[in-house]
Amino acid sequence: MDSSTFSESPDLERLRALVEGALRGPVDALITERGELQRFGEALRYPLGAGGKRLRPVLLLATVEALGGELSRGLPAACSLELVHTFSLVHDDLPALDDDSLRRGLPTTHVAYGEDIAILVGDGLLALAFRVIAEGVGVSAETRLQLVHELAAATDGMVRGQYLDLHPIPEPDEAWVRRMCSLKTGCLLEAAIAMGLHVVGADAATTAAYRELGFEIGVAFQIVDDVLDATSTSEVLGKTAGADEANDRQSWVRVLGLTEAQARAEASWQRADALLDALPGEPVALRSVIETIYRRTS
Ligand code: IPE
Ligand code: IPE
Ligand code: MG
Ligand code: MG
Ligand code: MG
Repeated sequence: MDSSTFSESPDLERLRALVEGALRGPVDALITERGELQRFGEALRYPLGAGGKRLRPVLLLATVEALGGELSRGLPAACSLELVHTFSLVHDDLPALDDDSLRRGLPTTHVAYGEDIAILVGDGLLALAFRVIAEGVGVSAETRLQLVHELAAATDGMVRGQYLDLHPIPEPDEAWVRRMCSLKTGCLLEAAIAMGLHVVGADAATTAAYRELGFEIGVAFQIVDDVLDATSTSEVLGKTAGADEANDRQSWVRVLGLTEAQARAEASWQRADALLDALPGEPVALRSVIETIYRRTS
């Protein structure tokens, strides 16, 4: 990877604009409240605001595009994934978990609104995610059921991974950290691609090839996150740098050391590159979004 030639992909910008439009339009309409619930509506909206990279919904849309599907049909599923991801961040930051005070460049939800409201915001975002899929237009009832199943399984996996992160075995090795990260982070990344496959009704061979790529990038996403946690600044990340060390977390950097962790990310990119070359369809935008995931600096 040559990060000196990297600039953020126009495909990512194009797909992200679609996601932002849907989050600010139909999703926000479900969030907005008046009267005595107005403040809770504001709290629900708060963590979803600007500053998120929207990589999961963008990956979903890029998968739909690669397989010739209509992007509008993937938008509800894309938003649902961002809602679950945002729920996971709100709860990840809570005092009982990572006890973080900065997220997406803003005070975390529990700092801004209080811990009680932040817990409810997480619950609310999770529920909204499934509501958005269930009410989603443009896909059949059967596809909506597949999307609900995919997202529920991925959310379940993410929560189990968070458990492992908080309660590690006494001497974690690489296999342990890989499994923990494939759950806490990989599940939602793989679901992004898998939900795109459901939207277009992909065949079994196509599904297997794309899912393998999804699994590969899912673990790598957390390797890069752990490397950035150890090497970047809170200002650049929009969240607290050094949080893993401060919380004594068994991150990739802790278990393997920084150099080996970086080498694992590079090796993963080589595998992802080869998998991308062999994919059916036209994964042009998907390739550039995935390159961004490996080369990102925030
Ligand atoms: C952060 O995810 C949490 C991890 C799984 C590492 P992102 O880096 O995608 O966070 P946002 O959505 O851009 O805020
Ligand atoms: C959390 O991993 C992944 C989630 C399931 C939210 P981290 O705890 O490393 O995520 P950040 O660094 O706070 O975004
Ligand atoms: Mg965490
Ligand atoms: Mg955290
Ligand atoms: Mg982190």
